[in-house]
Amino acid sequence: MALAGKRILIIIGGGIAAYKVLELIRRLREAGTEVRVVMTAAAKHFVTELSVASLTGSKVFSDLFSLTDEAEMGHIQLSRNTDLLVVAPATADLLARMAHGLANDLASTLLLATDKKILVAPAMNLRMWLAPATQRNVRTLKNDGVLFVGPEDGDMACGEYGPGRMSEPANILAAIDQALKGNTALPLPPALRREGGALMGKRVIITSGPTHEPIDPVRYIANRSSGKQGHALAAAAAAAGAEVILISGPVALPDPDGVETHRIETALEMRAAVEAALPADIFIGAAAVADWRVANTAEGKIKKGFRPPGFSLVENPDILASVARHGSMRPRLVVGFAAETADVLAHARAKLERKGCDIIVANDVSAGSDVMGSDENQITIVTRAGLEPLPRLRKDEVARRLITRLADLLPSMPEPAPMAKTGSGSDV
Ligand SMILES: Cc1cc2nc3c(=O)[nH]c(=O)nc-3n(C[C@H](O)[C@H](O)[C@H](O)COP(=O)(O)O)c2cc1C
Repeated sequence: MALAGKRILIIIGGGIAAYKVLELIRRLREAGTEVRVVMTAAAKHFVTELSVASLTGSKVFSDLFSLTDEAEMGHIQLSRNTDLLVVAPATADLLARMAHGLANDLASTLLLATDKKILVAPAMNLRMWLAPATQRNVRTLKNDGVLFVGPEDGDMACGEYGPGRMSEPANILAAIDQALKGNTALPLPPALRREGGALMGKRVIITSGPTHEPIDPVRYIANRSSGKQGHALAAAAAAAGAEVILISGPVALPDPDGVETHRIETALEMRAAVEAALPADIFIGAAAVADWRVANTAEGKIKKGFRPPGFSLVENPDILASVARHGSMRPRLVVGFAAETADVLAHARAKLERKGCDIIVANDVSAGSDVMGSDENQITIVTRAGLEPLPRLRKDEVARRLITRLADLLPSMPEPAPMAKTGSGSDV
């Protein structure tokens, strides 16, 4: 983690999820991060300055016109003497103020005056999140380079179900870590994208490569994925005119031209990066995400001793299934990969249903198939309508054909419908 010794300025907005930020502050402090907090006037209705100050061990700022604060630090300094600004919960109102460049209180003034990266964790009722005005503001902020984590789908305090629930503190922590590591390139200017292709004006998120799951600071669990197919897909989608966000595990490949590439290591980091990159028209999960991670990662290097170290494994999040079931943020076309060593097509069909995606790209990675790490691949496109096998081809040609097929299919896919389900819940 890149958190130790870093300075984070958290801006707490006026939403019910503000209570979760106390847990975030606690975790950041445990990780050795210096945390300063600004609260909006509305935030003080949800959590007290005293609780926040007790957790951060320092004064909470909230008044733009406080003479003492200006004499001590000044609002410009407050926004710049930091490594990252985090807005959590980011209310609809605060997102609107940011998108329009308003500076009518301390929080919005700092957000406008900063020269540092900003990460926001929105939280609001699903109708507020889905409102055209909020979605317009989100697009504006993403274009301005503001980073997003969440919101996630879930039960809400208001009794509805859908997108708008603030990401859990662990996910916000992972997104902060990514932002501090600089794995958050700003979107490429449209001028750098290729004109006239079949995916012009479409946004495509692609995951690629393996994930590394740490055992201790020097050892990790990994797999043999080279990332060649995922990276080739990113290049082919960019060549087709799409805005491409490639989220890559550790690979020995250069970042494809014309693609916004985010490098991550673990499955949790990949999930946070995917969440932050949504919404999109197409999601392609080509990464070989580790199914498990070590529950009890050691802080220091485990020494060779009289017996081998024991560690337990916990299941990693299912990124493909969570994107496919994302409610209103579900891309129109969700594509997964199934690398299997036996009964390849049967497994692929089962995976299509289990994950709720639209297409599975099946490939045989059994011994002798010579696919992992090689420059060639033989895939079968599995849809609910049937099987479309391709011959063995170079991975860049596989990518070109698959992207062409996805561009053909995209217009026939239904628009994702906003989910509306009643239920009880505790927060947004
Ligand atoms: C009980 C209650 C809960 C609220 N929860 C949220 C919320 O989760 N998200 C949101 O965007 N606004 C929420 N609001 C509305 C905001 O508090 C209001 O828009 C406020 O002006 C936001 O101020 P701020 O952006 O400066 O924090 C809530 C209001 C009330 C009374």
